[in-house]
Amino acid sequence: MSFFLTSFIHLTKRGTMEEVIKIKGGKKLSGVVNISGSKNNCVSLIPAALLSKGLVVIHNIPPISDVYRLVDILEKCGVCITYTDNTLIIDSSNLVYKDLTMPEMGKLRASYYFYSVFLGLFKYVKANTIGGCRLGDRPIDLHLYAFKQLGANIIEEDGTYIFDGTNLKQGHIIFEKSSVGATVNAIILATQIKGKTIIENVAMEPEITELINFLCEMGAKIKGKGTNTLIIYGGQEMHGVEFSNIPDRIEVGTYALIGASLGNNLKIKPVIPEHIQSLLELFNVLNINYQIKNDTMIISASPIKQGVVILTSPFPGFPTDLQQPLTTFLSISNGTSVIIESIYHNRFAHVKELNKMGANININNMNIIIHGVDTLNGTIVSGKDLRGAASLVLAGLMAKGETIVRGLDYINRGYENMIVKLKKIHANVEIVSMELEEQ
Ligand code: EPZ
Repeated sequence: MSFFLTSFIHLTKRGTMEEVIKIKGGKKLSGVVNISGSKNNCVSLIPAALLSKGLVVIHNIPPISDVYRLVDILEKCGVCITYTDNTLIIDSSNLVYKDLTMPEMGKLRASYYFYSVFLGLFKYVKANTIGGCRLGDRPIDLHLYAFKQLGANIIEEDGTYIFDGTNLKQGHIIFEKSSVGATVNAIILATQIKGKTIIENVAMEPEITELINFLCEMGAKIKGKGTNTLIIYGGQEMHGVEFSNIPDRIEVGTYALIGASLGNNLKIKPVIPEHIQSLLELFNVLNINYQIKNDTMIISASPIKQGVVILTSPFPGFPTDLQQPLTTFLSISNGTSVIIESIYHNRFAHVKELNKMGANININNMNIIIHGVDTLNGTIVSGKDLRGAASLVLAGLMAKGETIVRGLDYINRGYENMIVKLKKIHANVEIVSMELEEQ
């Protein structure tokens, strides 16, 4: 095909209207960011609530799309849900078994927590595979191993699982590697099985501690909280509970990095310092201007004068979920930094987009090598996952000129009202509809 014809087709190739985030960068940000409830905590509490015979009330549940998808699944199984002012009331007295093959199961990875809930309650589950951000392959072998150690029989055929729980029994699980999700599923199933189950090498993220608190307040008997070995005396009578979801530590970290880039005594609250200890240690090394007063972080823009080397690792190490915003934060600096992403082998989609803005970053195996530059320049960039999209919003706030960030749906999965919160601290940001070529 001749060049003219090709280019003509290219020029006239109609795009589609898309909601995007338009940012005019460089503004100093001040005021208060109110942190919402933890996405990664509530997505385990909501399925686990079905273990209770009584009413379960959970406060501080953020209105994000992951929550709405889980509510959709609950309602399709006869559960009565009331959701007002970020409080969820769950009445599972009319819960009925449904195959976990509804489309919502494919919308988020945490839908797999229903596997353990239903396996314990109904002793049988037919389920399809799950969704989640594209961060490289995201196996569930550790989940299946845990279920088998507790007596489940599992058949997998073309992306569908049949879990047979006829012979569920207490057991001993030793995880070969730390997995938040597999730990959650193992705890939920073991809590429903009479007898003593031991789980070793559990993940120790705050969300695990909170799940244990939640289940124990419902009547579960779980020992070893805060250590890497749990002993669960399962089969207890589980009653109703009123519980509060913790603040989202990854949202805190995201806004803290925004504050360290552009803040002018920006206030972020509530903050639980021990949930972001590894970030605070990094800020101390970089001489970032911040302080913590009670549950509030006050942070101001601080130029980065040196490079750092950071390894992402399971809690209490530096969280992989802050790797992408940190990449952006370190892209403007006097020095070269390296982030070693040890958790996911493909959590790098944001790097190409940042380089489009003038960053100087390359990837070598699991290492992100960031050669600091003086400025980023606004352009059109695309978020490909939740935290990657957030890292591009930060880049737009830091950049000269106007940035268009695609991937608003990803942002809405995990950040409550991010654009409203940014406007409140004087960011020049808005959601606009644009005609853009299919990605
Ligand atoms: C949770 O995902 C979080 N999601 C992730 O946050 C977070 O990045 C991750 O933990 C690590 O902290 C929720 O809590 C809903 P893992 P999860 O099992 O449970 C491998 C976000 O942005 N693995 O701890 O899926 C896995 O591939 C999301 O909020 C196996 O090999 O993570 C990864 O390399 C993204 N086999 C490592 O373990 C398994 O069966 C850690 O995964 C399970 C996991």
